[in-house]
Parts: sequence; C-alpha cells; structure tokens
Amino acid sequence: MDAIEIEGGARLTGTVEVSPAKNAVLPLMAAALLAPGRSRLRRVPRLSDVRTLARLLEHLGAGVEFGDGGLWVDAARVPGREAPYELVKTMRASVLVLGPLVARFGRARVSLPGGCAIGARPIDMHLKGLEAMGARVVLEHGYVEVTARRLRGARIVLDLPTVTGTENLMMAAALAEGRTVIENAAREPEVEDLARCLNAMGGRVRGAGSSVIEIDGVGELGPMDHLPVPDRIEAGTFLVAGALCGGEVTVRGARADHLDALVAKLKQAGARVDPVKDGLRVRGDGRARSVDVRTGPYPGFPTDMQAQFMALMAVGRGLSVITETVFENRFMHVPELNRMGADIRVEGGSAVVRGVRRLSGARVMATDLRASAALVLAGLVADGTTVVSRVYHLDRGYERLEEKLAGLGARIRRIRER
Ligand code: UD1
Repeated sequence: MDAIEIEGGARLTGTVEVSPAKNAVLPLMAAALLAPGRSRLRRVPRLSDVRTLARLLEHLGAGVEFGDGGLWVDAARVPGREAPYELVKTMRASVLVLGPLVARFGRARVSLPGGCAIGARPIDMHLKGLEAMGARVVLEHGYVEVTARRLRGARIVLDLPTVTGTENLMMAAALAEGRTVIENAAREPEVEDLARCLNAMGGRVRGAGSSVIEIDGVGELGPMDHLPVPDRIEAGTFLVAGALCGGEVTVRGARADHLDALVAKLKQAGARVDPVKDGLRVRGDGRARSVDVRTGPYPGFPTDMQAQFMALMAVGRGLSVITETVFENRFMHVPELNRMGADIRVEGGSAVVRGVRRLSGARVMATDLRASAALVLAGLVADGTTVVSRVYHLDRGYERLEEKLAGLGARIRRIRER
C-alpha cells in the first residue's frame, strides 16, 4: 500500500493549479447516461472515485474512454440497469446513476449505500423525490428497485438540501413529463454546473444555485461537451496549506466566489488572501489566530474543508470551536492529530481545539478522504517526519496531491509500505 512521507517545516511558495471538481465530474458522468450519444468531459482528474464511476458506467454497458481530450462516455446503448453492492460500497456517489437510468429507461436497481465512515448518509430523499414523480420504489435484499413508465413533473420539498439528492432529481426531471420544482435544493456550485451542462444538452433547468430549481422535462437530450468547474475543496486545501506554512502560494483556478466562507475564516485567522488573475493568492505569516467554525450547506463553511481547517487551528494561537452540522461522525482525524501533539477534544458535534506551539511528526493513518488531507497538512508543519498511511483515501479525491505540494517546496513523497 502507498503512504505519504513528509518532512515538516518547509515554507511553501509558488503557483499550484487546481483540477476540475470531483464532485462536479461524478454527477456529470452520470448525466452522460441521459443522452443517446458520445459525451465528453474535459480535463477530468485521474481520481479513484472517477475510475469507480467509470467502472459502473461500463458495468451498465456504456463505453468509457480516458484520453488527452478528457473522458468520453458513449451512452448510445446502455443495456444494464443495476449498480451492484461492490461499487456502491466503494463509493456512495454511485447512487447518482439512479435518476438518469429511471428517467431514460424506466428502471434502475441500486444497492443501498448503508453507513459510511462519516455517518449514516441515507438516500431517503432521493427516493421520496422519485416517488413524488410517479416512480414505484421497492426495497428488497439490500437493493432499491425504482420503476416508472415515464416520470412526471412534481413539486418536491427536500427535508435537507442534499447535494447528490438534488442532482439525482434534477437529472430525473430533465426527461420527465412536465415541470418539476425542487424546493430547499442544494445550492452548491457543482449543482449549478450540472444544470449548465443539462441546459447545453437541450434541457430546461432554471434557478440552480438558488434553493428553488425548476426543470421543464424534454423528450430527448443530446450528448455533452463540458469543462467542469474547478475543485473548490482542492483549492481550499492549498489555501490552508499556504496559510499554515508561511510563504506565498498562488492557487490558480481557485474561484473566490465559490470560496467565500473559507476565505473569510482564513482572513479572520490572520492570513492574507487576495484575488489575482485566474485565482487566489494566500500569504501566511506566523501562527494563525484561533477562530470558531461551523459547517453548513453551501454557501456555509464546507464540511469537506472542516478537517483541513482543523489542522490549521491545531497550531493556532488560542482556542477554536469547530462545529460539524452536516455529518454526525466526521471527527476521525482528531485522535490522529492528537497523536501528533495536537490538543483537541470532541464534545458532541463540536471539536474544541486548543492551539499548540508545535506538532511532532508521527505515523498516522488516514480514515477518509478529507481527514487524510488534514493529516498531510499537519505533517507539513510538524517537526520531523510524518508518514500518512492508507493513502488510497486521499487518491479518491486529490489528483497528485504530493506532487503539487512538492512543486510548492514541500518535502513530501509517496512511498510504498509493506
Ligand atoms: C455531497 C458531496 C460530499 C459532501 C456532502 C456535503 C458529492 C459526490 N459528495 O455528498 O463530498 O461532503 O455533499 O456537502 O457531491 N441525507 C439524508 N437523506 C438523504 C440524503 C442526505 O438524510 O436522502 C443527509 C445526510 O446523511 C447528511 C446530509 O443529508 O447528513 C447532507 O448530505 P448530502 O448533501 O446528501 O451529501 P452527499 O450528496 O452524499
């Protein structure tokens, strides 16, 4: 298994480029199933989550090809209807094929995701929405089977602004009969990007990016040729790295309008963040000031940045309370950060972080995608050597993170562990 070895203490300077967003690419790949033709997604990052979804599309019978021009999905013929347990278990976002399959072919069978490392994460709202559109939902043997002759537009009010739920229903509604209105919809930039792409395919979606999305169903959609939005979580991770390690880092592709909540917190913590051509530049200067953070749905502070920000607060000046409101069990990085000398106590849905002067390098274990990134960040400022094992979590969502950080001057490399 691969691990990442970091020699702490290097200042970071230079420019780093973010890739298109994983969380945009996954729904877009699923959306390719809506169109009988050959779709292209440009500059798709080489991530294991992307490979997992590619495997699922192939399992369904679509053609998938990676090339210099991007990722091609040929959905002219898609005979399969099932997302099997092995793939959904590896990656929850596999449920994104549900909406497109039911909308275009009238049937889908998807394994229920079950619990995952960061919480229960059910898909009840995806299913209730499809039911409201006239689908029949049957749960059996750990699979959910959804059938509909043709979906009908409906008014759907989500209990919570679920991101993949909103995307699933938007894709389903794109080929439904009549108008669908999704209220309390997720407002994430990736939802907006999907809407933009659906519209370019001939769909009729309005309001994405706000909490009410209206979709007028059409009879057929054409293939896409789309460049997904830059990854705001990858960008945010580099901004935190810059703030943490001093020096000056330019994050090319970072979109200020997608990073408001994080940038506000970085500034409160004492980092300088300025817009530059095509991105953002961050300058860290000494220890950060401790600030409190509360995660929330977009445009709130992203739960996907909570762990990385905690690494910054771990060496902050003062006391920071980090409250997680999106997922109930997303503090698995805490014991690992404490093994590196951090002083963090979890109390219910909050982590109380007492900033320490220094962290010390240690062997630590990644437990999920963003927790792994937090451990890498902590390793960048810790004394001595840190080895982060189980890097396969990191490879799900970061493209060549160690190479990009090394390009900024970090002493970091991938090693093979026995
Ligand atoms: C997406 C992101 C993930 C991010 C998360 C929150 C993708 C591929 N993944 O995940 O990186 O951490 O948004 O920003 O885009 N819930 C229900 N019932 C449902 C659906 C969700 O109770 O039917 C709950 C979940 O348990 C969670 C909350 O709603 O507590 C938000 O989850 P959701 O927005 O659905 O997350 P994902 O779309 O899975």
